[in-house]
Amino acid sequence: QKKVQTSKSETAEDMAFGYGKIILTGEHSVVHGTHAVAAPITLTMKAKVWAADKDVQLIIPRWGVEQTLKFGEDHEYSIYKSLEMILDRLELRDRGMNIEVVPEVPRAMGMGGSAALAVAIIRALDRHFQIGLSDNEVRELSYESENIVHGGASGIDNTVSTYGNLLMFQKGTPPEMETLNLEEPIPIVIGLSGVESMTAKMVRRVREEYEQQPDWYGEIFHKMDKLALESKEAIEEFDLKRLGRIMNLNHGYLNALNVSSPEVEELISIARENGALGAKLTGGGGGGAMIALCDSESSQQKIQHQMHSAGYDALITSIKPSVSKEV
Ligand code: MEV
Repeated sequence: QKKVQTSKSETAEDMAFGYGKIILTGEHSVVHGTHAVAAPITLTMKAKVWAADKDVQLIIPRWGVEQTLKFGEDHEYSIYKSLEMILDRLELRDRGMNIEVVPEVPRAMGMGGSAALAVAIIRALDRHFQIGLSDNEVRELSYESENIVHGGASGIDNTVSTYGNLLMFQKGTPPEMETLNLEEPIPIVIGLSGVESMTAKMVRRVREEYEQQPDWYGEIFHKMDKLALESKEAIEEFDLKRLGRIMNLNHGYLNALNVSSPEVEELISIARENGALGAKLTGGGGGGAMIALCDSESSQQKIQHQMHSAGYDALITSIKPSVSKEV
């Protein structure tokens, strides 16, 4: 195989990117039409494109991926299928190019890695070929990609990934998207269970259970909707105690949906025992990640330390006031 040259002219900081995300309230129920609130995180997926004589080459050095895209074949990973769709939609199928990706969002941890990857690639293609896509077009195209990777996605991950705003979301065509006002950053710890999980599998499982017991599941989704709507109020009033209680209740419903895991439960116990105002799983569950809401930096550090002592990876981050109010 021909050795590809990495473009040296562009540093990682200059690369196009999509944000990873955390969901504060309403994952899973959002797939079934309820509201949910999500925020971007500082971890992103980055991508850049540079010209090649022929073929489309995907290069992800950190994952040891360096592969030529073969159009129309059964692809091993859904990312190739999604890339093929993106190139088709942008009428770039016949152009030679290298697409290099720098992944920061941990893989299969419920932090929106697949959506961020799609957004980063779309933005990198847009930049290189000077297509002039609007944010809304990036959101729509990355949603199509999410539906290839996940099947039945609500669209919340790729929306947050595109706009990078703290927002309340309800699926639809177009979805309802409202950027939330936030006065100060909200301190968060993200605990990583270390157990990789496929969101698609969890979404399918919840859907199957819902079909078996529509009344019970419908009621749970309705309660989760109320929690998401109330979490918006708590955020805008900067009432972190109330937000914490809402997150705890939300986790209870996610447990009822059977999407938690022993590792996530342990991380949640650690967070609550060490002063978190609230703690819940975030994203698809079945492993993946959880979030703890904290009232101070010292509380974040204590919780992170305890998670490390128990053998888990944990990241200190914060939800920041949105850069732009427009979505
Ligand atoms: C995944 O981050 C969130 C889910 O609600 C799926 C979706 O909304 O597409 C589990």
